[in-house]
Amino acid sequence: MPTTSSLLLAWTSLALIGRSSAGTFNSTRILQSCPNSEICYEVNVPDSTAKSGTGDLYIRISAPTSYTWAAIGQGNQMAGANMFIAYTSADGKNVTVSQRSADGHNMPTEDSSSTMTLLDGTGVNNNTMVANIRCSSCAAWAAGTMNLTDAASDWIYAYKKGSQLNSDSASAQIQQHDDYATFKLNLTNAVGGSTQNPFMDSNAYMVGETAQPSRGGNPDPSLTKSQNTVLYVHAVLASVAFVALFPGGAILIRLGNFKGVVWVHAGMQALGYVIYTVGAALGIYLAVDQGNFVKNSVDVAHPVIGLILLGVLFTQPFSGLLHHKQYNAKGRRTIFSYLHMFTGRAGIALGMINGAIGFWLVHGNKQVGSKAAYIVIAALVFTVYVAAIVLGEKRRKSRKAGY
Ligand code: HEM
Ligand SMILES: *[C@@H]1O[C@H](CO)[C@@H](O)[C@H](O)[C@H]1NC(C)=O
Ligand SMILES: *[C@@H]1O[C@H](CO)[C@@H](O)[C@H](O)[C@H]1NC(C)=O
Ligand SMILES: *[C@@H]1O[C@H](CO)[C@@H](O)[C@H](O)[C@H]1NC(C)=O
Ligand SMILES: *[C@@H]1O[C@H](CO)[C@@H](O)[C@H](O)[C@H]1NC(C)=O
Ligand SMILES: *[C@@H]1O[C@H](CO)[C@@H](O)[C@H](O)[C@H]1NC(C)=O
Repeated sequence: MPTTSSLLLAWTSLALIGRSSAGTFNSTRILQSCPNSEICYEVNVPDSTAKSGTGDLYIRISAPTSYTWAAIGQGNQMAGANMFIAYTSADGKNVTVSQRSADGHNMPTEDSSSTMTLLDGTGVNNNTMVANIRCSSCAAWAAGTMNLTDAASDWIYAYKKGSQLNSDSASAQIQQHDDYATFKLNLTNAVGGSTQNPFMDSNAYMVGETAQPSRGGNPDPSLTKSQNTVLYVHAVLASVAFVALFPGGAILIRLGNFKGVVWVHAGMQALGYVIYTVGAALGIYLAVDQGNFVKNSVDVAHPVIGLILLGVLFTQPFSGLLHHKQYNAKGRRTIFSYLHMFTGRAGIALGMINGAIGFWLVHGNKQVGSKAAYIVIAALVFTVYVAAIVLGEKRRKSRKAGY
């Protein structure tokens, strides 16, 4: 007579054989993708959905409560995406999820045909918002479709840091994101299981998405490829003007000690101004082309400073020429000298800072090679420039000569 334990053993082995013969010991598979060390998104495609191509999709959003909202969406841009936005509920102890859509770069509005359900495990725990979502309209929604077994499906995420939103309303006002990106998910790695709540299945097999969300060489995914090229050329031209030619010509006039130095200086500055004019024109083109480029104070500062510089620096050739003529006639500095020097120095400093603001505008707080290189080189050139001014003025005093 078999003992209870041997019966149990036989039953267990049978169960094991049954499950492994189906090829899935851990039948629930969850694909996880974490854009940073704090936010994670998870997805599960039940077997039935994978087979039929329609049906439920499970999505999980987790983010610290130091975020006002965190969202994931199906699609490769805001317009037409099927978005899920998570924020704390009115009492701050649970999570509200709102299924939304947008027609462009504006606040996504509640999807009136939302078929989303919040599952167990949703809530705030250990200062972390967790939303376990079942979506019944994720294979096809009003503005798009997604193949739920696509090995390269298009997704977006965005988040805003800040105080808790604390709202039960699915149509709560949200502020524009601090950061966003497009990313791909290999959904074949999310297929598996038939549970009603995969995120509560402690045996679920977790697959980490190695392909991190990325902007794919595209410094600003909200720009088209050609707009990005324009942005790139704009940045290069303005940098050449403010980090190379203008300070270079200014250093030359302070330290250069050869006949005709003033004309080399004038030539370099004129070339710098022409190059900057082209760069600024590209910036204006971008702003107009994008329509909504100017959104907050940082966005406003960059173009406004840029345009002021374009206008003010236009006076430099004239004040420079007047300074030169008067200097030759009177043998001393005149009002034009001070005007020319002050405007030039302030303009160069402001232009260098404005370049940094531009990098910040596009890349935010992200660590980007080009941004770091710009700041290092600009700081270096600026230091050399200040040293040249100090040294030049010293020499001038001791020799009682020179501009
Ligand atoms: C109040 C809400 C929102 C506002 C006002 C807003 C506004 C904007 C703006 C102005 C841009 C262009 C940014 C730039 O020029 O660099 C943008 C891009 C983007 N946003 Fe939003 N957004 C909002 C919510 C969301 C949400 C909830 C998501 C994701 C679920 C999202 C995902 C994206 C993505 C992926 C891009 C880049 C691709 C594209 O151009 O659509 N946004 N958004
Ligand atoms: C939070 O909300 C979810 C979904 O509405 C619910 O199932 C859960 O019981 C709530 N948790 C708490 C602690 O109220
Ligand atoms: C609570 O959150 C912190 C920070 O995210 C994490 O390090 C810690 O492991 C969490 N504790 C528990 C019990 O989950
Ligand atoms: C969905 O994608 C899978 C894998 O790429 C492919 O085999 C299948 O045919 C696609 N289904 C549809 C309806 O396009
Ligand atoms: C998707 O994942 C499957 C299984 O890991 C792998 O065989 C396939 O190459 C992946 N496809 C892409 C495009 O990454
Ligand atoms: C099943 O899931 C557990 C827990 O995630 C994991 O340790 C184990 O390796 C998985 N086994 C298989 C066969 O995938």
